[in-house]
Formats: sequence, structure tokens, C-alpha cells
Amino acid sequence: MSFFQRVPLAPPDPILGLTAAFQSDPRKDKVNLGVGLYKSEDLTTPVLETVKLAEEFLLKEESSKAYLPIVGEKLYLDQMGDLVFGSEIWGREKGRIANFQTVGGTGALKVGGTFLKEEAVHPIWISQPTWPNHRGVFSHCGLKVEEYPYYNKETRSLDFKQIMLCLEKLSPGSIVLLHAACHNPTGCEPSPSEWNAISDLLREKKLIPFFDFAYQGFGKGIEEDAAVIRHFAENDLEFLIAVSNAKNFSLYGERVGCLFIVAKDAKIADQITSRVKQVIRVIYSNPPMHGAKVVGHILATPSLRKKWVAELDGMRQRIQNMRQLFVQSLMQRNGPVDFSSLLKGSGMFSFTGLHKIQVDRLREEYGIYMPSDGRINVSGLTQANIPFVVDAMMAVIEGKTNA
Ligand SMILES: Cc1ncc(COP(=O)(O)O)c(C=O)c1O
Repeated sequence: MSFFQRVPLAPPDPILGLTAAFQSDPRKDKVNLGVGLYKSEDLTTPVLETVKLAEEFLLKEESSKAYLPIVGEKLYLDQMGDLVFGSEIWGREKGRIANFQTVGGTGALKVGGTFLKEEAVHPIWISQPTWPNHRGVFSHCGLKVEEYPYYNKETRSLDFKQIMLCLEKLSPGSIVLLHAACHNPTGCEPSPSEWNAISDLLREKKLIPFFDFAYQGFGKGIEEDAAVIRHFAENDLEFLIAVSNAKNFSLYGERVGCLFIVAKDAKIADQITSRVKQVIRVIYSNPPMHGAKVVGHILATPSLRKKWVAELDGMRQRIQNMRQLFVQSLMQRNGPVDFSSLLKGSGMFSFTGLHKIQVDRLREEYGIYMPSDGRINVSGLTQANIPFVVDAMMAVIEGKTNA
């Protein structure tokens, strides 16, 4: 008898499990709108040209694969500070911004959450809905996880009033997880004036903001998407930022990300650094090297950086084009649902508003895959598959059968 005989079978991950089901579906016209990977018009996730060029450089120039320091690759962190905060704030304030290279954005959430568990006593509040892994990661850090309302299903848009009503009631020291741009899964985000009101409230109530920043450049642009973080940095708040480079460098499998913790002053930042280094040391000792070296080299080399900005602009433009074409095609059908609010969405994701039964029908009858909350990855749409997806959606919404 196996010692592990009684190990219970865990349920499949709601999103990664969907990919496995999609892959084993034999239908030729199947469509995967589930997983969070950027897809080009031919539905591949290619290596960026700038990544290939940086890898060529590393192949020639790299002389050692010795361990990185616990905090990670210096050039990468310096370049990422510049990208996230902008050169002015980073140049002026970096002494009070503790920074760590992590194992992707998920690693940054885990390290930040573990650090907060040791230092903060209150729950972490995550938006309802949010990226499903938030609850799991923070629970695994030992934090109590609570939810604040975020989305109004009736208007298919942000519920700013309810967000504020909830945050107002939190006790000082509570942690609030915010998506800095491109909210996953809804695609809805606060306007600049709403962000100002949120930052004022967080400061006044002494709450601790924890930004998840996984999509810089996928919303409105590299600088525009970072505006909220820069606003917080200039307005006397202490906060954390978990950054992922999976999407904006298309480096998913290389696990590149970082954690910034903005402190009141440099002395406190040093204290934080010493504690977070302890956290990292016992989880993975020090971070992986390759992806961070690639990103660091691209950002530090003006010609490559320019080329990368163009590649990122291209991804964002395609997402925006697909969003427009998709919503216009839905609206042309004059169906019972008004999809116009989806046009305002930002980033790779959109909430279709489809119910679980409709989502199940799309998968079973048409081979169109999305998580049961009806979230779609807009980049899974192409000029070629939009008519098929729109026809299928209208059929399930209108209750027709696929005879
Ligand atoms: C909102 C959000 N945060 C974090 C992550 C994790 O990023 P990474 O793949 O770098 O761990 C994702 C990935 O899909 C995400 O959508």
C-alpha cells in the first residue's frame, strides 16, 4: 500500500485545466478564449524579435551562470524601476523603493504576501471578481482573504460607488489588492479621477495598497498604464507592486517579474529589504537569471528598447482592433444584449456577461472555450474566427440549438 494512497485528488486549475480540455478537443474550428497568453493573428505566441536579439547577445557575451544575488539581477531591477516609475521618480526616489527580482508576477505576489503576513495583522482585500490565483496565493501566504465589490453586472462596468463604500469601512493596516491597469478578468478600470479618490481614501484610512501590475503596455500604453503607480508614489503612500514581464516581453515560461515596496524613507526600505531577503532565501534562494538578463539588456540598449516598444505597441493594437471588431459584430446582430460597454474595456480580457450554462453550451456544442465566468482573452479572437464566435454566442444567448 502506498504511503500516499489517501492523498485527495485536487480539482483541475480552472484556467489551465481548460487548456488541457481544449487541446484534446478534435474539432478543427475550435477556439480557445480561455488562457491568458497573447496570441497573434495566426494564434501563436511567438518569441519577440528583440528577445531573440538579446539572446544572441547573451550567447556571445555571458561569461558565467553563477547564482544571482538574493534580490536578483541589478541591471534588470534598475531598468524595471525606470519602466514602472518613470526615470524622474526612479532617479529621485529609488533609495526608498525596496526592489527584488522574483519568479514571475506570481512569485512577486507570493513574496510580498509572505512579507506582509509577517508584518501586517489585517486581511488582504481582493476585488470580486479577480484573477482566480489571487485567493490561492494569498491564502497560501497565511493571509486572511476578503473581497471588495468591483463590478456591476447590470451595467457591465466598474462599481466605483460600492468600491469606495467598502474601502471606507476597512480598519487601518488592511491590505488592498489593486490591479494597476487592465483589470483581469473584467477589463474595467477606474478613471483617473476615480483613482485619485481611491488613493486619497487609502492614505486617509491608512490602508496598504498592493498593486498587481501584470499588463504594462497592454492597456493604453507603457506610460499611461503606469500613471496610477506614479501618482501613488508622488502622494505620500507606502505600497507594494508585483510586476510581471510574462506578457509585455512575451516571456511567459522564463518566469520574469519583480516586487517593489515603496517605503517612507531609505532607512525603512533597507529594513524591508533585509526581511524580504529572508523570505526569498527560504522559498527559492535566488531568482532565475536568463529572462531577467534578456529584459535588462533590451531596456538598457536604446535601439533594442525602441524596437521592443514597437513590438509591444503592435500587440496592444491588435488587441484593441479585435475588441472593436468583435463588439461591432455583436452589436450589428441587434440581439437582446447591449454589448457596447465592452468597447470601453482595457487590456487583454473582457467579461462577455455570458452565464455558466451559455459558456458550457459554447464549449460543448461549438468548441469555444472560456472560463465559466464568461471572461474572454480578446487576443484569442481573429478576423477569421470572429464571425463563428459571434454566431455561436448569439445562438446560445437566444436559446437556439446547434442543430
Ligand atoms: C492579474 C495577473 N497577475 C499575475 C499574473 C501572473 O503572472 P506571471 O505569469 O508572471 O506569474 C497574471 C497572469 O496571468 C495575471 O493575469
